[in-house]
Amino acid sequence: MTNPFYNKNVVSIRDFTRNDLEYLFRVADNINLNSLTDALRNKILGLVFFEPSTRTRLSFEAAMHSLGGTCIGLSESSSSSTEKGENLNDTLVTMNQYVDALVLRHHKDGVARFASEICTKPVINAGSGTEEHPTQAMLDLYTIFKEFDTIDNLNIGIFGDLKYGRTVYSLLYGLSNYNPTVYLISPDLLQLRSDALSDIKENLSVEQHSSLSDVISKLDVIYTTRIQKERFPDLQEYERVKGSYRIDEALLENAKDDLIILHPMPRSEEIPTSLDTTKYAKYFKQIQYGKLIRSALLYLIFTEHPES
Ligand code: NCD
Repeated sequence: MTNPFYNKNVVSIRDFTRNDLEYLFRVADNINLNSLTDALRNKILGLVFFEPSTRTRLSFEAAMHSLGGTCIGLSESSSSSTEKGENLNDTLVTMNQYVDALVLRHHKDGVARFASEICTKPVINAGSGTEEHPTQAMLDLYTIFKEFDTIDNLNIGIFGDLKYGRTVYSLLYGLSNYNPTVYLISPDLLQLRSDALSDIKENLSVEQHSSLSDVISKLDVIYTTRIQKERFPDLQEYERVKGSYRIDEALLENAKDDLIILHPMPRSEEIPTSLDTTKYAKYFKQIQYGKLIRSALLYLIFTEHPES
């Protein structure tokens, strides 16, 4: 199979097929081979982050370093000329000239696509508004794949702020390549946006619920997210729903033995730290898978004929 990621933008997970994703998973399985420690020597990755990030940014940096490449970057806006009024176009055009690929996070929908149109180097969307976060979905899917050896026929619960959580949308589009049953569980005010819901229902079997306890006993995976406070247009709406969902020990009494709990992180109250030591908690392992997936993705974007 030719490398479907070579020199490609990663703006939406919808631009990749099941075969593409599984090709990435196979490379991620082997990415720690010693022979690749110099694979990206002389490559420079540009990190342009207009929103906070811990795992996404650090895992891209760690991935790049582990393959022999380097990173340069801008964090939020205070250290760059954006603070002096420079427009996004000029910032991106500048960065595009210094680097071999760009990783971009921005609070507005559509910015990753815009960047991919004005940059001549591959653009990786590291989160665009409420829209998408495709590399998070790649690592979420990889985690499920590694834990169950399959994604088909699983019962996957997505629980929390489904309205504003961009990782949820990318995950659902990614899951559409497979055949799971998806349970969307959220307070009424935080249900999935209706345009996306009808889109997703065309390819996925979906049930909507307002209470996790109604479905907990069926689930193989619970994927939960924090409430996206910063994305609420009206803070009164946020006040009405904050703290309204949470996974606790009592709920888990009815869970399947091999249930896994995933979270893109950062968490707030939806997963108490007391769950961290339970057999269900896989959200720290998910972070490890994230570094593998981002290493594999960078390797493939920069390498036309990768070692298999
Ligand atoms: C997510 C994001 O930025 O959308 N973070 C991440 O990259 N793991 C989730 C979040 O902020 O809640």
